[in-house]
Amino acid sequence: MSNDSKPEAGEYAGANAEQRRNWNEVSGPAWVAENERIGAQIRPFGLPALARVQAAAGHRVLDVGCGGGETTLALGESVGTHGSAHGVDVSRPLLDLAEARASRAGAANVTFELADAQTAALPEGGFDRLFSRFGVMFFQDPVVAFTNLRRALKRDARMAFVCWRSLDDNPWMKAPMAAAAKHIDVPRPEPHAPGPMAFADAQRTRGILERAGFREVAFEPFDAPMNVGGGLDDLDDTVTFMTRIGPTASLLRQAAPEARAAAITAIREVLSAFHGPSGVVMPASVWVVTAVNG
Ligand SMILES: C[S@@+](CC[C@H](N)C(=O)[O-])C[C@H]1O[C@@H](n2cnc3c(N)ncnc32)[C@H](O)[C@@H]1O
Repeated sequence: MSNDSKPEAGEYAGANAEQRRNWNEVSGPAWVAENERIGAQIRPFGLPALARVQAAAGHRVLDVGCGGGETTLALGESVGTHGSAHGVDVSRPLLDLAEARASRAGAANVTFELADAQTAALPEGGFDRLFSRFGVMFFQDPVVAFTNLRRALKRDARMAFVCWRSLDDNPWMKAPMAAAAKHIDVPRPEPHAPGPMAFADAQRTRGILERAGFREVAFEPFDAPMNVGGGLDDLDDTVTFMTRIGPTASLLRQAAPEARAAAITAIREVLSAFHGPSGVVMPASVWVVTAVNG
């Protein structure tokens, strides 16, 4: 298994180096700081996949890209004391949060591991279920990654994960990005590059999973209004949240101060149209993907 300490800055090499750097140095710490709000924002989108994975008493469940461990803890509860939930993630800061949460909750059947799901030496046939909430779209080589993950499953074991559909289906991401693009450099999105939208194309994702050896691959769209910032009332707080988390935040970080300020004003204007008594609520859309090993 991968080593268990946080890599030194600049020490990232090999598979998924850029993602590992990002989730340890940039996005990971931002997700730790905003974890409660992010949890509230994305929780409704993870629930259908949690239901579809059908984790039951006694199961051993693998949670891929588990982040701060919210879903790993939920899975641990579903499988009871005779089962277990194991979260793997490349982000030391997010795993520190996950471990602290599990210890506070006294969740003795929940464990975490600093490991790249694409290359981790997971126990062969060690798991009955595989779950992920937005944690499987960052692999440099998704076929290799899912082949590795499938080997960790028992025969006929079930997998369920949730991933974003296209930018067009997700105005909560597209609209602020388009507003920012009037002031800062927004590169043309590469649809299949590792990142939040990498699995938006269901046909391509089906091919990846089938080549990795999964069968009965199914895609179910789930659309719901998203509470941006997880229920923040104040528009300015929500804009600040958006400058810290997500794809627009990554672009803003690289912008010159004046352009960044203008982009933030433009984002505020767009979000204000969706601001009401429950905060900023915008349409969002995901795929709930299910499959079976073998
Ligand atoms: C969008 S976050 C989702 C986190 C968590 N599942 C949640 O719903 O709160 C994506 C997570 O995937 C992790 N990740 C990215 N690439 C990974 C890889 N190759 N192996 C394991 N985890 C990875 C990141 O560190 C991050 O925690």
